[in-house]
Amino acid sequence: MRRLPARPVVAVVGATGVVGRVMLDILHERAFPAAEVVPVASARSAGRLVAYGDVPLPVKVLDEGVFDGVDLVLLDTPDDVARTWAPVAAAAGAIVVDNSAAWRMDDDVPLVCPEVNAAALEGAVKGIVASPNCTTLGVVLPLGALHLRFGLEKVVVSSYQSASGAGRGGVEELSDQVAKLAGEPGAVEALASGRARHLLPAPSAFPAPLAYNVVPRAGSLKDNGYTSEELKLVAETRKIMGLPGLALTATCVRVPTVVGHGASVWARFAAEVDLEEALACLAGAPGVELVDLPTPQLSAGRDPSFVGRVRTDLSDRHALCFFCACDNLRKGAALNAIQIAEHLLPT
Ligand SMILES: NC(=O)c1ccc[n+]([C@@H]2O[C@H](COP(=O)([O-])OP(=O)(O)OC[C@H]3O[C@@H](n4cnc5c(N)ncnc54)[C@H](OP(=O)(O)O)[C@@H]3O)[C@@H](O)[C@H]2O)c1
Repeated sequence: MRRLPARPVVAVVGATGVVGRVMLDILHERAFPAAEVVPVASARSAGRLVAYGDVPLPVKVLDEGVFDGVDLVLLDTPDDVARTWAPVAAAAGAIVVDNSAAWRMDDDVPLVCPEVNAAALEGAVKGIVASPNCTTLGVVLPLGALHLRFGLEKVVVSSYQSASGAGRGGVEELSDQVAKLAGEPGAVEALASGRARHLLPAPSAFPAPLAYNVVPRAGSLKDNGYTSEELKLVAETRKIMGLPGLALTATCVRVPTVVGHGASVWARFAAEVDLEEALACLAGAPGVELVDLPTPQLSAGRDPSFVGRVRTDLSDRHALCFFCACDNLRKGAALNAIQIAEHLLPT
């Protein structure tokens, strides 16, 4: 695997999106040693300015030539854009860290959560590294640590995913629905009687109104009845943990939070699980913070996967239950990609 120069020129593609904005913030916060930061987005954003610390930077349009002289490309765009442009950037000599799902399951592209499988970076023969899905990241941090001690065999996850997981459009749709209902006299009665759904415009970012609701279908529905988010969680967890046969099933649910994905996790292990040992293992796990009540609000704007409600299964001494919450824009996307890039800097 190639390494970055000590002071790389960094392009953030998708810099106007919810992940891209946080990417710029975290690059600045962590004093990533960038010689220059180049924000890039679509032609829709031509002429816009985005903030890098206190400095407003003009957005460049994604086009041939935008990667000239760039050492690191952080891609925060839809899958189709990343599929097309990651090889272009790599051919221009940059190392690419992609936050989309376009390259995650490619055999020649490592899928990396550095606390769990940093060694996989050596396999980046295409010059492209993929960062996992936001729900996957929050869950593999505790599971990775528990697996080393007890030997993971089976996992059942139910997610509670925030609106920002669906990008800028998701946040805007939730915000519009909340504002509409807040301005409506008798909104509580309308919600209680079912009339509220007639007060809202047809949803587009989500398959049902999200405000004051829970939508048990995050991602697009596939032929086998699972959603794209559920299938990502299964395939990506197996790849990151190097456990291709891991039994895992997921139900991904959208909830009306703005930032922070929660997940209820049941995990079964080869070894019997001692609760105190499991807690000690989680307390020492990199990227994990043990707390009493790991809510999405607690996680928003912060780096760890917060883990709590840890208990052994009352009817199975090999199984553990816990809840975790993780900022989907930080560790679930931007922070993880930057941590990957930090591993590629000269030591
Ligand atoms: N949101 C999350 O929690 C999360 C977590 C992990 C991974 N991801 C992944 O990260 C990626 C970005 O997600 P997001 O939530 O930040 O989405 P978003 O808020 O919708 O932002 C999308 C970004 O991509 C840019 N873009 C779209 N089409 C483009 C094109 N043809 N050429 C150049 N730029 C283009 C947009 O630029 P314009 O403003 O110019 O349209 C915008 O900057 C997605 O692949 C997503 O699946 C998201």
